[in-house]
Amino acid sequence: MEAIETRYRTHSCGQLRKSDVGKEIRLAGWVHSYRDHGGLVFIDLRDRDGLTQLVFDADVCGKATHDESRKARGEWVISVGGLVHARGEGLTNPRLATGDIEIMVKTLEVLSVSPTPPFTPDEREVVNEEKRLEYRYLDLRRADMQQTLRTRYRVTKMMRDYLGDAGFWEIETPFLTKSTPEGARDFIVPARLMPGSFYALPQSPQLFKQLLMVSGCDKYMQIVRCFRDEDPRADRQAEFTQLDVEMSFIDRENIITVMEGLLRTIWKEILGVEIPNPIPHMQYDEAMARFGSDRPDLRFGMELHDITDLGKKTDFKVFKDAAMVKCIVIPGGAKLTRKETDALADWSKGFGGKGVAVTKVAAPNAGSGSFDTGIAKFIAPVAQEIIARTNAKDGDLLAFVADIPKTVHKVLGELRLKMARDMQLKASTDFAWVWVVDFPLFEWSEEDQRYVSTHHPFTAPLDQDLEKLTSSDRATVESIKSKAYDIVVNGSEIGGGSIRIHRMDVQQKVFALLGIDEAAQKLKFGFLLDALKYGAPPHGGIALGLDRLIMILRNIGNIRDVIAFPKTQSGADLMCGAPSPIDEKQLKEANIRAILPPGKAAVPDVHNVVHKHEGGAGKP
Ligand code: AMO
Ligand code: AMP
Repeated sequence: MEAIETRYRTHSCGQLRKSDVGKEIRLAGWVHSYRDHGGLVFIDLRDRDGLTQLVFDADVCGKATHDESRKARGEWVISVGGLVHARGEGLTNPRLATGDIEIMVKTLEVLSVSPTPPFTPDEREVVNEEKRLEYRYLDLRRADMQQTLRTRYRVTKMMRDYLGDAGFWEIETPFLTKSTPEGARDFIVPARLMPGSFYALPQSPQLFKQLLMVSGCDKYMQIVRCFRDEDPRADRQAEFTQLDVEMSFIDRENIITVMEGLLRTIWKEILGVEIPNPIPHMQYDEAMARFGSDRPDLRFGMELHDITDLGKKTDFKVFKDAAMVKCIVIPGGAKLTRKETDALADWSKGFGGKGVAVTKVAAPNAGSGSFDTGIAKFIAPVAQEIIARTNAKDGDLLAFVADIPKTVHKVLGELRLKMARDMQLKASTDFAWVWVVDFPLFEWSEEDQRYVSTHHPFTAPLDQDLEKLTSSDRATVESIKSKAYDIVVNGSEIGGGSIRIHRMDVQQKVFALLGIDEAAQKLKFGFLLDALKYGAPPHGGIALGLDRLIMILRNIGNIRDVIAFPKTQSGADLMCGAPSPIDEKQLKEANIRAILPPGKAAVPDVHNVVHKHEGGAGKP
């Protein structure tokens, strides 16, 4: 950082080098550490750029300043003037960019004092997350947090530059809007001027960006906050940021080319890493069949093997009667204890499973003795066939799930990830990229007893499947594939988009299949249908999850660590204490009344909830 010269400083604390020796300079920053050696006082002065060692010698700065320097404590803010001095032989610090020099201080001005802070910004100090979030301004002083904020800024700048150069315009879209259903719950805002009516905060600018295409804007981008009232998780916040993109007169491959170009630039600039060109594509069906997930982590093998046919040849009821039986081979998994493998049954219930059957490969090719323990005796008749199909080796563990395909894939897909973590499998590469394409257009929701959009209702079906939109046969409707695509890296979905429906009649058919009748279409989406009537160009786009992208770039597992002011698991901002009750007057003005669930009282202070009931900022 080049400091802008002010009365407080001429340079930043990370800037001075050997070549500056002899210069009269001024520095300003925070007291990071201090050592009082009686005659000499040393202070490491910190700003976002780095650390510089200050030396206070009474012979140079005079007794008064020397005395003053002895009072300085951690996190005081000071400004000093002095001479850049070469550190003596053996006194340089190669770990510090400024380690060849120190400042012989002549003048000192204390700008702010601080009591002992709840924690210091020293990287080595382990602090509980709740404290970090409560004193976020102190937490953000830490070098790794500053590094993340810097990376985040550099990435958004690259996005604007790259897309700007390619002819994209950044256009703002409203925050106070009507809900666009993306599948999550809306945050709502009462409209004071229209009692009983509410705005919704956007889950994404989806419809606005499509309307901008109808407006002839051609290429749109926006780095935009999105709001979804769902439970935060390790890679999910209720308030998060997207790079939102839309283009006209394009096909899937055109948008993919633009996004790959951008991602390639970011990875090269930030990490010096080349992304494969092109990034491979994988069909949704293949991703599910081989990895049990539509966001497969391709850094590991452990693919799913279908042994439904072999299960039928056994007398093991669980396998014989199942719609599907699949297994994974866990390399070296034979060393797992009985207790560990038994625990998998319960674990699988969390994903809708009924259990996980296991057996160990004891001595391959040794007849029926190939499997040992677990369900070995039940599957003995097909042991050789299973080994041949799965290529399992001595010392491996086989884990089976029998169920309907959806459950088999979910449980084994999750087990694959769990085992890669638990067994600390070595990744084959730092970054494994894949575009997942050809998603189903609809999924049947058992809960709602209707179809729901896999992506969103504005996604176009593949051309070949257009006529299936009028079918009433469930298998036919479920076989409709869409022009949606997700970009996945290391098992994280960092972006998703689609080619949109640009014909009113097709959009109406999709709404109808989703169970939205004509009256509801008019009420909810009249403006979209109208717009599609007045000359809509073919268009499509994508949104990248900026927070997730930064997590991958910085190798950070927790989304809260890439956001300056994030929220906890329970949606609380522990620093400013949001959300909080509002007073009667405000409620009245907004024409609303708070109706609490029976037995619940309003929470006057979010700190109490978090401290008492959660014992932390939440599991990542
Ligand atoms: P989608 O809902 O798939 O698509 O979101 C796009 C990307 O945004 C990120 N993301 C999130 N990140 C953090 N916290 C969340 N709660 C969260 N939800 C989503 C993910 C995801 O891939 N309008 C469409 C895009 C389009 O069709 O162009 C949309 O929002 O990385
Ligand atoms: P049980 O016959 O219920 O005692 O189950 C025998 C073994 O099969 C146990 O290890 C269960 O965890 C496992 N198991 C039960 N149901 C399933 C299933 N649907 N798929 C895979 N394994 C199962």
